[in-house]
Amino acid sequence: MRRLVTTALVAMALTASAKSIKPMKPFIDDLMSRMTLQEKIGQLNLQVAGDITTGQAQDTQVAGMIAAGQLGGVFNLKGVDKIRALQDVAVKKSRLGIPLLVGMDVIHGYETIFPIPLAMSCSWDIEAVEQAARIAATEATADGIDWVYSPMVDISLDARWGRVAEGNGEDPFLGAEMAKAYVRGYQGSLTSDHSPLSSNTEVMACVKHYALYGAVEAGRDYNTVDMSHQRMYNQYFPPYKAAAEAGAGSFMSSFNLVDGQHATANHWLLTDVLRNEWKFDGFVATDYGSIGEMTIHGLGDLKECAALALQAGTDMDMCSQGFLHTLEQSLNSGRVSMQDIDRACRRILEAKYKLGLFADPYKYLDPKRRAKDIYTDANRAASRRLAAETFVLLKNEANLLPLKKQGKIALIGPMANDRKNIAGTWCVAYTPERYATIKEAMERAVGSQAKVLYAQGSNLTRSEALQRAAEFGKNLERGDDAELKAEALRVAREADVIVCAMGECADFSGESSSRATLEMPDVQRELLEELSKLGKPIVLLHFSGRPTVLTWEAEHLDAIMNVWFAGSEAGDAICDVLFGDAAPSGKLTVTMPQALGQVPIYYNHLNTGRPVSEGETQYRKYASNYLEVRNDPLYPFGYGLTYTTFSYSDVTLDGRRASVTVTNTGQRDGDEVVQLYIRDLVASIARPVKELKGFRRLHLKAGESQTVTFDITDDMLSYYNHELRYVMEPGDFDIMIGPDSRRVKKATLTVQ
Ligand code: NOJ
Repeated sequence: MRRLVTTALVAMALTASAKSIKPMKPFIDDLMSRMTLQEKIGQLNLQVAGDITTGQAQDTQVAGMIAAGQLGGVFNLKGVDKIRALQDVAVKKSRLGIPLLVGMDVIHGYETIFPIPLAMSCSWDIEAVEQAARIAATEATADGIDWVYSPMVDISLDARWGRVAEGNGEDPFLGAEMAKAYVRGYQGSLTSDHSPLSSNTEVMACVKHYALYGAVEAGRDYNTVDMSHQRMYNQYFPPYKAAAEAGAGSFMSSFNLVDGQHATANHWLLTDVLRNEWKFDGFVATDYGSIGEMTIHGLGDLKECAALALQAGTDMDMCSQGFLHTLEQSLNSGRVSMQDIDRACRRILEAKYKLGLFADPYKYLDPKRRAKDIYTDANRAASRRLAAETFVLLKNEANLLPLKKQGKIALIGPMANDRKNIAGTWCVAYTPERYATIKEAMERAVGSQAKVLYAQGSNLTRSEALQRAAEFGKNLERGDDAELKAEALRVAREADVIVCAMGECADFSGESSSRATLEMPDVQRELLEELSKLGKPIVLLHFSGRPTVLTWEAEHLDAIMNVWFAGSEAGDAICDVLFGDAAPSGKLTVTMPQALGQVPIYYNHLNTGRPVSEGETQYRKYASNYLEVRNDPLYPFGYGLTYTTFSYSDVTLDGRRASVTVTNTGQRDGDEVVQLYIRDLVASIARPVKELKGFRRLHLKAGESQTVTFDITDDMLSYYNHELRYVMEPGDFDIMIGPDSRRVKKATLTVQ
């Protein structure tokens, strides 16, 4: 009884100090002076608390651990009431009343779901992506969350890796711009201000997965990574660095090895680079169970791995309980020092302080906010608008699109009347029962002007293995293949135009969804083949969370639009674009191969000593090429059509200023993303054939022209040399500007 009273008094003292809280350092000094060793170690421990599964299930008795001061934070628990119950335990029942961090995988929206991150990157619309993150933060905080496991900024060149869906594609420059936009959107004033936040709509970002997770060998998730340091610095690090410099509050270490050490226990990565070079001053959490997995990598027992991780610069242990159960022993035996533990503990407490949790542990737990802040009309409109900008029109023969709202439209395919999958892979808080299917949206869009004839057409696939993946969480209805196909053909025969909603389902990409084939799944392709024999115009709305191989489709279908997974408003957004109420304006941020064997394929590659030219049509002996396919991709990085056309003037150079005039040569107003690429022609290490260094999104009225200028800065001409020094070496540079990475115009800049 006496203990309870003391506990409550201490807790009240902490909360009551809301308005008069001391500056961060003295506040934390004082708090830490009162903490026991076990309480400090407890702060370094993070556990799942909810029923949302994002890793292997665990039985954690969370409330008891919180009361005992054994948890610094919890994650993936949905709902203010449930979160409040746990925060109450922390504040009122633990000895010092230290509030919990409350995390969640909020990756592309909360209940208003935005397109998957890969799709959002294809908008090249930095402001819109920042706004999407802002909206996600507002919704998540309205439901009690103060820490989000986003942005995921891993560069990946490998379409087999399912987590391509969660990142910003293959380019370091665009990836860095996107990383900063997410951090600004999530964190708002937290980015620049270390005093407790006044706003309760801002969350702490967690940049992941540091580092190189996107480079897993063979695109197989959780696999090994090995690469040179210069490649890390030039190609893979820029987005992490940009996020750190933008003030991200936390980082998550990756599952993979870096230089043979686990990323979670790599001192060079976590301390020398992240903290000392990039000046990151937040905390580092592991990924799910990483310290435990280190033992399976063969790096020691749990005690040794926990000590290695702590000393390398990891502060918080997600789901291994390695810190919790071994650090005291390691301290007693001298394997780790009190400074190691204090350092990590201080960083976690600082994060709580910056979020304002010490000033008010309940600031994110206002039960009235849900009704006014979540899934609002304004949030949904923002998602719908951005979705149209993410769609990449790959082919549009004879301007088949936009369709007229007239006649009979056959809508066919396993994604056509689905509401669980079209939102995407990483939406743990989503409420799909409220989202419209394409069929529903289309019927609404055409009203009585046209008739929609629907048929599911096929199952997703007949492959048992893929089917199991599809059924992980968002299973689709299954039927008899032959019957489904017959029904689709009957419907298609009646129609004037066929719209197919096909491709991957949500869980074909994302975590643990690597693929060894990239073509349209079996039964869907067979149906497309049959449909194409009818001689009617066919539009493919292609769903995917990665670059896929669409070589057959590009040859046989009239129009193809990659709609990725477009979020909660996908149905309406797709219809907006299909019928021309909006125009698609996305450009690929990943290269789309002609064949799986070309993977990894990316535009900013090195030249080799035996290159073939772009567009070479024949195999050449003793050159760097394949026997069966040319080196060119099917669709290059930066590529995407819209409902109008643009012409580009030659590039002019005036000193360091490069200009080009872009004209809308079509009949409709439209958006264009003008892209600047640079090549360093001679350098002390071999440099890529081109690298994106700038871009502008333009809106041009039909017939309108605009001159776009880029000032070529030293930074754009610099790179990390073999000694990892950032250098600009004098000489010639190709300055290339165009609508995609292939169709560029060029001028040469000489730098003395
Ligand atoms: C594992 C994933 O790699 C990571 O991205 C995610 O944030 C955690 N699980 C938590 O769910």
